[in-house]
Amino acid sequence: MSFHTIFEPFRIHSVEPLRMTTRDERRSAVRAAGFNLFALRSEDVLVDLLTDSGTGAMSRDQWAGIQRGDESYAGSPSWFRFLESVQVLFPFKHIIPTHQGRAAEKILFTAIAGPGKAIPNNTHFDTTRANVEFTGAEAVDLVIAEGLDPALEHPFKGNMDVLRLDEFLRTRGAPAVPAVFVTITNNSGGGQPVSLANLHEVREVCDRYGVPLFLDACRFAENAWFIREREPGQHDRDVADIVREMASLADGMTMSAKKDGLANIGGWLAMNDDDLAARCRSLLILTEGFPTYGGLAGRDLEAIAQGLREVVDHDYLRYRIRSTAYLGEALARRGVPVVQPIGGHAVYLDARGLLPHVPPLHYPGQSLAVALYEVGGIRGCEIGTVMFGRKPDGSEEPAAMDLVRLAIPRRTYTQSHIDYVIEVCADVAAHAGDLPGYRIIEEPPALRHFTARFEPDDGSHSPD
Ligand SMILES: Cc1ncc(COP(=O)(O)O)c(C=O)c1O
Repeated sequence: MSFHTIFEPFRIHSVEPLRMTTRDERRSAVRAAGFNLFALRSEDVLVDLLTDSGTGAMSRDQWAGIQRGDESYAGSPSWFRFLESVQVLFPFKHIIPTHQGRAAEKILFTAIAGPGKAIPNNTHFDTTRANVEFTGAEAVDLVIAEGLDPALEHPFKGNMDVLRLDEFLRTRGAPAVPAVFVTITNNSGGGQPVSLANLHEVREVCDRYGVPLFLDACRFAENAWFIREREPGQHDRDVADIVREMASLADGMTMSAKKDGLANIGGWLAMNDDDLAARCRSLLILTEGFPTYGGLAGRDLEAIAQGLREVVDHDYLRYRIRSTAYLGEALARRGVPVVQPIGGHAVYLDARGLLPHVPPLHYPGQSLAVALYEVGGIRGCEIGTVMFGRKPDGSEEPAAMDLVRLAIPRRTYTQSHIDYVIEVCADVAAHAGDLPGYRIIEEPPALRHFTARFEPDDGSHSPD
């Protein structure tokens, strides 16, 4: 294309109003929420970048699918349409529908993990880690060293360190490792992709030790697009074809359809192993439902079936990846420090870099996130010491990084919304030196970021 404007390959068919708020209203709302953005009413948010999970807009054809949903308990035509759509991309023998990704994880790890076992992954997403650890097994992250350096440019920062994986399997022994996982794209590592070459190498290591390979495939289409764009020899391929090659290297997968299923709810678990599938289906019936609907309504299965057809469209993926990069590049140009390179679904602001006067134990990420909300009604998510700082023994330590994630819901915001986000971030960054640190005045024993209450150190916003 000879033009540079990012062209949204859709036009708007139905609109949702955004309620405009004043800075004073937002200041009172965030104070009432204990300076925790999870406690806001979403109607008080102008641009909601808290997560890209289940927050995207569905297409006309997905809404038509919703109407067509058949709610028969067993063997519904909606199930068969879902099954066909999944298997076109992921031709695993057994497809087990679930209400979202973590339900697939819960079932799989209940079946294969347990005390004394370990699951290596490039980087476990937090629910994946929690589901592994809940069984008594160990969750081990083996991403390449480059993946841990926020400023370093590397085309595939989500790659698994295959030498460390080999060493891990050799020392632990295959019986203690029921599966190796690769997360595509690597969400907890900044939405960074994994190359096809790396997946082939991981497969070879798994074969050497006789250990199955599973994909945590939530953002598989974004990962495949990065492969097409960045990996030598892949540029002329159809994304669907790249996805099938990724699937052919694995023995199974877990999936949250709330991301690259382009749906608001849903997921699945897939595998080739008949025995494992039988055990997982028994667990599915206990908590999710009959194997032809899992935890979903027939209409949800239809929305996912259609979403999977749309997500591998090249025009969509070009727009998706380009528009995320547009936000990141514009912020970097304005001197706002961001994790490089820009990932597929989110831009990560380096709050520690921007607020050097706020020590990590005074939560620079929280301070920046609150300021973005107060100044412009933008809701991001602190990913730093608030989220990871409290240790199981009760002590508190700075996290490796203090970031604010701006996750972009799919097909939801226009370029003018994103231009507005850029303006607000630049304004907040220009006054970053004035932002206060925070202290926690109330926190639960675990996962404190969801419900903790805060107070600014400088008393500037003390509760009335
Ligand atoms: C990489 C990854 N795995 C698993 C999950 C869990 O999926 P869900 O939120 O549908 O349970 C997520 C959700 O954000 C994710 O990003």
